[in-house]
Amino acid sequence: MFSIGIIGVGNIGGTLAHTLLDEDTFNIRLYDICPQIAEGKAKDLYQSAIVSGKNCPKITSVISLKDLSPCDVIVITAGQSRRPGMDRRDLLAENKAIITSIAKELTDSQAIIIVVTNPVDLMSFYCHQTLDSTQQRVIGMSGVLDSARFCAHTAQALSLSPGNIQGYVIGAHNTHMVPLTSSLRIGGMPPSPAQLECLHSYDVVKCTQNGGTEIVNLLKTSSAFYGPTEAIKKMILSIACDQKLVLPCSVKLNGEYGAQNLFCGVPVILGSHGAEQILEYPLSDEERIQWHHSIESIKKDLSSL
Ligand code: LAC
Repeated sequence: MFSIGIIGVGNIGGTLAHTLLDEDTFNIRLYDICPQIAEGKAKDLYQSAIVSGKNCPKITSVISLKDLSPCDVIVITAGQSRRPGMDRRDLLAENKAIITSIAKELTDSQAIIIVVTNPVDLMSFYCHQTLDSTQQRVIGMSGVLDSARFCAHTAQALSLSPGNIQGYVIGAHNTHMVPLTSSLRIGGMPPSPAQLECLHSYDVVKCTQNGGTEIVNLLKTSSAFYGPTEAIKKMILSIACDQKLVLPCSVKLNGEYGAQNLFCGVPVILGSHGAEQILEYPLSDEERIQWHHSIESIKKDLSSL
């Protein structure tokens, strides 16, 4: 049975475990720095699955990170999350220490690691560095969520169903992310000049870039978690079922898009081997400039520690 380890069972980790239980096909193990929380959530989730008619839900808690080594996928959500007024990079030093100490315990594991902890491009980099793993195995969750926000704002601006919209966000998971207007398809067609004008006056790009901050400011004690959870689930299903979906994720770049030795969001094919291929989209001149700013923001953060 495909097994998934979740490190950190706060809002995202707990909600993820809950939604994964619907799938029936996963064996889920929970770890938290506070073992009683992991145990309590595992019991509550087990009982919730019995209520909803599952005969034998597969969810347990573990007390050591080493117990997650045999998992096929490990999701790291541990660390501090943002509060109003905080930028994702305010979490950098504290979460770097947490991610590095977790990764040191996972060096024996062959699992594909999905990093969620912010700032995710940096945390994925440090996780990869500590594990000394291949380019494919450590993947940050960013672009699936950002792209959903891009499509949601586009749909709202054009008064259309989001189901009609396709569009990708690449770049850093911060306010320098790059929503690719050139990738937008509305019912399969590129936006018309009138639609582009509408997107411009609604400021869809800025709304997308501020999507996470908007929710932190509203929730006050937490960052978003339902959207991130669905994004992680989509990534897990693509890996577990070898669906090979093209999903924008933060992965190690080795020259793709002119960048190297850092993690940044780009479209990748996600399959049973992890990030199996990076797709290089043609960027407009303006998007290339934004991409450059995005990369510079990541380099600046990397050099600040
Ligand atoms: C957000 C967090 C996951 O964008 O960074 O909501």
